[in-house]
Amino acid sequence: MPYDTHSIILGTGRAAPEKILTNADLEKIVDTSDAWIVERTGIRERHIAEPGTGLTPLASEAARKALEDAGIEAEQIDLIILGTVTGDYTFPATACLVQEQIGAKHAAAFDISAACSGFLYSLQCADALMRSVGYRHVLVIGGEVLTSILDWSDRNTCTLFGDGAGAAVLGVGQDGSGLIASHIQSNGEHAHLLYNPGCGSMYPPTPENVDQKVNTIRMEGKEVFRYAVSSMLDGLSKVLARAGLTSEDIDLLIPHQANLRIIQAVGKRLDLPEEKIFINVGHYGNTSAASIPMALDEARRSGRANKGDLVAMVTFGAGFTWAAALVRL
Ligand code: UT7
Repeated sequence: MPYDTHSIILGTGRAAPEKILTNADLEKIVDTSDAWIVERTGIRERHIAEPGTGLTPLASEAARKALEDAGIEAEQIDLIILGTVTGDYTFPATACLVQEQIGAKHAAAFDISAACSGFLYSLQCADALMRSVGYRHVLVIGGEVLTSILDWSDRNTCTLFGDGAGAAVLGVGQDGSGLIASHIQSNGEHAHLLYNPGCGSMYPPTPENVDQKVNTIRMEGKEVFRYAVSSMLDGLSKVLARAGLTSEDIDLLIPHQANLRIIQAVGKRLDLPEEKIFINVGHYGNTSAASIPMALDEARRSGRANKGDLVAMVTFGAGFTWAAALVRL
C-alpha cells in the first residue's frame, strides 16, 4: 500500500578535490591545446583526486554538508543511495563506506551504476522507496573519481573528465514542493560506444589485461554527442508532459555538465534564455554522476535556484542511460 508522501529536498552539499588540473597542464601530458578543449567542450580546468584516495572521502564530505544544510542528524537517515561507476572497490558498495564515515547507523546503503545518470536514477529510486516503504530521510549522492580510470595518453578522453561528489538529503513533503516528475530510461544497444571494459568479470585485472589498460574509459565521442542531445530532450519532454508543464515554466535548467555545446544545443531546442541554464563545466569538466548534484548545490548556495523555483535536471550517459527530473524547491 503506497504511503501518501512525496520527497522534497531538505539540503544539498558538494565536495571537490583541492588539486586543479588546467588545460595548460594537459598540454604538457598529451597532444592537445587549451584552445581546442575550450572551443570543443567549454572545459578550462578540472579537480583531480590524489591517486589512491578513492571516492569515500569526497562522497562523505558532500553528505556531511548536505546534512548540515538540511538540519538533519546522520542517525536520522534511513537510506543512502550512491550513484557512481568509480566506487572504492568492486564490492562492498561505497555507500556502505560512506555510511560508516558519517555515522548513519540506522541506514540501508547501496550503490547504483548508471554512469552520468547515476544521481537522477538514485533520486527516482529514493522517491519510490520513500513512497512504498515509508522512509522519512534519504541521502542521495552522486560521486566519481573518474581520473582513476583515465588513459592519460588518450587525448580523446583524458581532457574531458574530473572528480567530485554532490549530495542531497530528501525528506517527506506535504505541500506542492519536491519531486514533481521523474523519468529514467536506458538503451543497451549502444553500450560499447562509452564504456570501461575492466576490471569486471569479463576482463579481470590479470597482468596482461592491466598492460592493455583495460580499466580505462573508451568513448566514441561524436556518436555519444549525437545521442546525448536527442535523449536529454526526450527525458525533459517526458517529465514536462507528466507534470502538465512546458519549458516556459522552468526557472532553472540544470543539465549534465559534459560539454558546453551539448548544453547549448539542449537550451536552444527548448528556447531557454542563457540565464535559465546553469553551467559550471568550465571549472569541473565532466564529473559523471557528480555533475548534477554538484551543480544543484552550487545553484542553491549562489542564489541561482531559490525556494519555490521549478528546477529541471536532465542527464545522459553510458549504457546508454538518460534521465530527467522536475523539482519544485
Ligand atoms: O558524460 C557522458 C556523455 N559524454 C558526452 O556527452 C561526450 C560527448 N562527446 C563530446 O563531447 C565530443 O564529441 C568530444 C568533446 C568528445 C569530441 O569533440 P568532437 O568535436 O566530436 O571531436 P572529434 O571526436 O570528432 O575529433 C575531431 C578531431 C580529431 O582529429 P582528426 O581525426 O580530425 O585529425 C581528434 O583526434 O579533434 C581531435 N581531438 C583533439 N584534438 C586536440 C580529439 N580530442 C582532442 C583534444 N585535443 N583533446
